[in-house]
Amino acid sequence: MKSKTVFLCSNCGSESPKWAGRCPACGQWNTLEEYTPPTASSGKSSTPSALRNAPKAKRLSEINTDEALRFTTGLGELDRVLGGGAVRGSLVLVSGAPGIGKSTLLLQICAQIALEQKVLYVSGEESESQLKLRAQRLGVKQESLFLLCETNLDDILASADQLKPEVLIVDSIQTLYTEDKPASAGSVSQVRDCTLKLLQYSKSSGITVFVVGHINKEGAIAGPKVLEHMVDCVLYFEGEAHTAYRLLRAAKNRFGSTNEIGVFEMREKGLTEVPNPSELLLSGRPTGTPGTCVACVMEGSRPVLAEVQALVSYSPLSMPRRSCNGFDYNRAGMLFAVLEKRGGLRLSNNDVYVNVVGGLRLDEPAADLAVAIAVASSAQDKPLPDTLAAIGEVGLTGEIRAVDRMEQRLAEMQRLGFTQCIIPRSGTRDIVAPKGLELLRAKNIREAIAVSF
Ligand code: TYD
Ligand code: MG
Repeated sequence: MKSKTVFLCSNCGSESPKWAGRCPACGQWNTLEEYTPPTASSGKSSTPSALRNAPKAKRLSEINTDEALRFTTGLGELDRVLGGGAVRGSLVLVSGAPGIGKSTLLLQICAQIALEQKVLYVSGEESESQLKLRAQRLGVKQESLFLLCETNLDDILASADQLKPEVLIVDSIQTLYTEDKPASAGSVSQVRDCTLKLLQYSKSSGITVFVVGHINKEGAIAGPKVLEHMVDCVLYFEGEAHTAYRLLRAAKNRFGSTNEIGVFEMREKGLTEVPNPSELLLSGRPTGTPGTCVACVMEGSRPVLAEVQALVSYSPLSMPRRSCNGFDYNRAGMLFAVLEKRGGLRLSNNDVYVNVVGGLRLDEPAADLAVAIAVASSAQDKPLPDTLAAIGEVGLTGEIRAVDRMEQRLAEMQRLGFTQCIIPRSGTRDIVAPKGLELLRAKNIREAIAVSF
């Protein structure tokens, strides 16, 4: 049977039977690429079921989990994000912006893993001598670490078959190609087929595979969306361009929660773990001064903490100045009006400036309360406790409304060392505070201001 050619969108991964200039599913232009699905299974369907060599299903109780399923990578922060160490036979995708430190991270974990297991590190981006130099700088010199510079996936797998490593690291998926496809490396169909092959290989051989994936301009993994469905674990490695701090987050994890984050610092000798992340967040943060509060927003499926600063100062202008950086101007205007009318603040003859530290944009209503509290703190010239944060949407009548994924946000706060958080009273009765975090429930903006100071 001839396998049918379809067209895949490189943006959303949807399939179309025909080529078109614009993807019918997501509306992006010029993203459809020709794709021929692998033919291996196409003949099977014609075999009558009686003649087939059917695989035998097992009882749950028959499945043996005695052998050690997890092993440590030597970096506690990475182990935590993976859910307590790397899982044998799993496929982990590590993605992030160029230069963020993906190759460094993966070469560094070789130091620990190669003490007990054989590791094959395949790079399609760097030469052997470059890898050697980097390994020397990172202090990685284990005998059971093998390097291979190759981009042909079939050759890589053949080489892995011979070497029989326990861990395979591939840097990066976008540089690989398989011979059965005419498309060039990095194209949607190559990325998809190479991932599929690596997945089959890791499942059949029990080898743990780490794969680096580049991200596109929008910050998603370059390649079809289905890539994320195929792999067991998707990690994002991110950080600010001008700081040395790096955050590792799981966007998907079949073997653990996605609420955990890992924090690293890029130093001369590679990445070092940051054991107390609240220090990192508070490092540049002024303490004991009015006009700062911490918000928690969801960036995709990931919670992110951000500091909101506000400055309220007397204005001689008839039309006082309002300025917002990292927060919607109109939404801020609404919050100022609510603070005047329902919160008892006088803002009409003051300039008000709002700034979100770190270049982040807070587009979610969940950040409303933190902005309002920061403004109130500056207007009254009273500092907030350093370890207080606020989550909640502010309505026009001054009420504080519930937001989704409260547990995930609170877990992130506790993890970053916060001890108090103002949350909405409505819709949060079932929420249990994580250990060490006190929840201050407020019904409206007046109550919220009252409990903050
Ligand atoms: P790299 O791992 O090559 O990034 P990626 O694979 O994600 O593109 O890291 C590149 C950056 O890390 C580079 O700008 C230099 C910096 N770096 C250090 O500061 N110290 C080190 O020991 C190493 C290896 C890299
Ligand atoms: Mg790299």
